[in-house]
Amino acid sequence: MIIGIIGSGAMGAGIAQVIATAGHTVRLLDQNAEALQRAGQSIATSLQKLADKGKLTATALEATVARVHLTQNMQEFADCGLVVEAIVEDLAVKQQLFKQLEAVVGADCVLATNTSSLSIASIAAACKQPERFIGIHFFNPAPVMQLVEVIPAVQTRPGLEAEIRELVQSWGKVPVLAKDTPGFIVNRVARPFYGEAIRMLEEGIADVATIDWALTELGGFRMGPFTLMDFIGHDVNYRVTESVFAAFFYDPRFKPSFTQKRLFEAGYYGRKTGRGFYSYAPDALPPEP
Ligand code: NAI
Repeated sequence: MIIGIIGSGAMGAGIAQVIATAGHTVRLLDQNAEALQRAGQSIATSLQKLADKGKLTATALEATVARVHLTQNMQEFADCGLVVEAIVEDLAVKQQLFKQLEAVVGADCVLATNTSSLSIASIAAACKQPERFIGIHFFNPAPVMQLVEVIPAVQTRPGLEAEIRELVQSWGKVPVLAKDTPGFIVNRVARPFYGEAIRMLEEGIADVATIDWALTELGGFRMGPFTLMDFIGHDVNYRVTESVFAAFFYDPRFKPSFTQKRLFEAGYYGRKTGRGFYSYAPDALPPEP
């Protein structure tokens, strides 16, 4: 099956790598030509690292890279059996994209979103055939993280969720069924985790490095909350926080903070821009998880 991916940022590039490694031809599209080229390079670099570690043969590396087709032309998605969307976390933009996409793909093509927080039902509602719509939510970095949440909407046809879980397994991932509720499983638990860490910072209880240190060194967490937020990106993370807060009818448990909002407004997105809670000199980046 040929699989299309729309959005070639952090997630789209990683998802493309996973799916191409599993043997599918992948069409990877982005509206931004530079982002598309960057994704192509990052996939090649990441596969090369695996080859250097002896986890991938030179032949497999070459074949995997060749299976990823970069494009800016949505018409090339006409032969896709599945399309996974990983563009900006904005409901109206995602709905508009699926409207365009449905005019191109065949009637049997499954449509999926990698949204972190938006309701799957609300994106599906923009489609002419909402019964073929489902959430497939990867974690960052997609080639490394095992878990994938599979989220059927109320409109999703019976049986599709099982088919997608099987497909996800064939990609070497572990699917978990999640209900279409704000933040699904992981992002729901993660909101108060980040929120409480920021509140402690704002209350002057401890600084960024101390909180991260305590959580990793003493708490057994793989990454501290501030390192993790910088890794995800404050553009993505702030939007997810706002979206989950609104989706829970403004329950104060999920309230975003001004600290987070100011980082977002300033364009201090974290690792991707070189500054977030921490500053990242190009040669001083913290290790990837
Ligand atoms: P990103 O900002 O790295 O990449 C988004 C890409 O989409 C950009 O290259 C942009 O040019 C492209 N784009 C935006 N609008 C487009 C359109 N209309 N048509 C084509 N391309 C378009 O964002 P990231 O982090 O990859 O997130 C993408 C999606 O995945 C979001 O829905 C996010 O919530 C979700 N997600 C993010 C995770 C993370 O840790 N960053 C984890 C899991 C899901």
